[in-house]
Amino acid sequence: MLAGWSPDSWQGLAIAQQPTYDDPVLLASVLEQLRKLPPLVTSWEVDHLRSELAAAQQGKAWLLQGGDCAEMFEGCQSEPIASKLKVLLQMSLAIVFGARCRIIRLGRMAGQYAKPRSSDTETRDGVTLPCYRGDLINDNEFTPASRKPDPVRLLRGYERSALTMNFIRGLSEGGFADLHHPENWDLVFVNQVSGEVAQRYQRLLQSLGDSIRFMETIAGSDPKELRRVDFFTSHEALHLAYESALTRPSVRGTGYYNLSTHLPWIGDRTRDLKGAHIEYFRGIRNPIAVKVGPSMGLDQLVEMVNMLNPTNEPGRLTLIHRMGRSKISSSLPPMIERLRELNKRVLWICDPMHGNTVSTQHGRKTRRFDDICEELKIAFEIHAACDSRLGGAHLELTGENVTECTGGAAGLTEFDLGTAYQTQLDPRLNYEQALEVAFEIAEHLRNGWK
Ligand code: PEP
Ligand code: CO
Repeated sequence: MLAGWSPDSWQGLAIAQQPTYDDPVLLASVLEQLRKLPPLVTSWEVDHLRSELAAAQQGKAWLLQGGDCAEMFEGCQSEPIASKLKVLLQMSLAIVFGARCRIIRLGRMAGQYAKPRSSDTETRDGVTLPCYRGDLINDNEFTPASRKPDPVRLLRGYERSALTMNFIRGLSEGGFADLHHPENWDLVFVNQVSGEVAQRYQRLLQSLGDSIRFMETIAGSDPKELRRVDFFTSHEALHLAYESALTRPSVRGTGYYNLSTHLPWIGDRTRDLKGAHIEYFRGIRNPIAVKVGPSMGLDQLVEMVNMLNPTNEPGRLTLIHRMGRSKISSSLPPMIERLRELNKRVLWICDPMHGNTVSTQHGRKTRRFDDICEELKIAFEIHAACDSRLGGAHLELTGENVTECTGGAAGLTEFDLGTAYQTQLDPRLNYEQALEVAFEIAEHLRNGWK
C-alpha cells in the first residue's frame, strides 16, 4: 500500500461536488451497512480490465465506453438495460471491422448515479432549492423534500447497481451475447429507424456470418470466445464516502480495490491536485480514468500523471480528453507531446460529447451530431500527427429512440427535439446516431489513423 494512504485518507482534504446531509448519524449507519455488503465486481475482473487497457495502449485493442449521462433509479428495468447493451454490442461489431483488433466494451452503467453540477442550488420562480446531484443523492423533482440529500439513497443506488450488474453478467455470459445470433441484439423499434444506417448494419451482419462460417469450417470447431463477451462497467466516482465504503483489500494481498465498478473515473471538475478525489484515486488498484478538459495546464497534467501512476504501470491510467470541437486543435497536441517526451504510459481516449453541449433557442441542452463526429475526426488526426494513438471513445448514448442530439442520418432538427427528449441531464446519442458514430470510427481506423 502507498505511504500515508487508506480508503479514508481523503477525509479532511478539500472536496468538491459533495452533498450536505443534515443527519450525520443516519449517514454513518448507511455507510456502515455499505461497508459490510458484498462487492459488485471482483479484483480479478478489475485486473483483467487493466491488462486489456494495457493492450489498448499498445494498439492491440480499442476502448468503447458508453452509456447514459446519468442512470436513473427508475431506469433500472430490463428493457433499457438490455437496449444499452445491444447498442454497445452492435457498435463494437461495427468498430471491430475497422479496427481489426479487440474491442473493450465498457458501460457507463451499474453505478453512474452521481453528478457534478455547475451550481449548488437551483432557483425557479423565486424559489431556491439544492441542485439535483443524481439519484444516488436526491430526486430531481423540484420540491424541498425531493431535493433534500437522503443517505438511504446510497443503499438504493448500491442495490440498483447490483441488479444491473447481475443482468449484464447474465446477458454477456449466456446465449444472448452469442455472435452466431446477432439478431438477439436487434432493438424492438429498429424497423422504424430510417434505412441507411440499419441497412449498413445488416450488410455488416451478413459478412460477419460469412466470416464465422468460413472460420469454423477451416478450424473445424466453434471457438467459445464467439459465444460470450467481456463487458466491464465504469462510473464517475464522485461521492467519495460511498466509493470508499465499497473499497476493499483483495484477498490475494494485491492492495485496495474499488469494488463498486471495474473502472472509476475522475470528472473534469474534481481533479484538483490537492483535493480529495486525487488522494482517494491514487491508492486504489483499479485502472482509473480522468477527464481532461481545456483548462488543464501542462505542468498540472504531468504532476497529476505522476501522482496517479508513479510507477508508469501499463493499463493503469486512461486520459479522456473532452475539449470540444473548437478547442481540441489548440489544447490537445501540447498535452500529447509533453507526456510522450516524458515516456508516460497513458491510454488516450476522446469524449466528443462534453465539450460540445449547446442550448437551443428554447433553452434545451443539445449536441450537434456533426460537432461530435468532427471532434472525433480531429482527435484521430491529432494523435496520428503527434505519433500517438487514439485508443478509444467515450460517448453518452442510449438504446432508446430519443431525440436529444440534433443531426445524424435522420436529420433531426431543433424542432424535433420535443418528440422524445427524455434526459434529465446531458443529451445522448440515440440508437441510430450511436451506430452511425461507430461506423465513422470504423472508417477512421480503417484509414490507418492508428
Ligand atoms: C460526464 O461525463 O457526464 C461529465 C460530467 O463529464 P465531465 O467531467 O467531462 O464534464
Ligand atoms: Co454528461
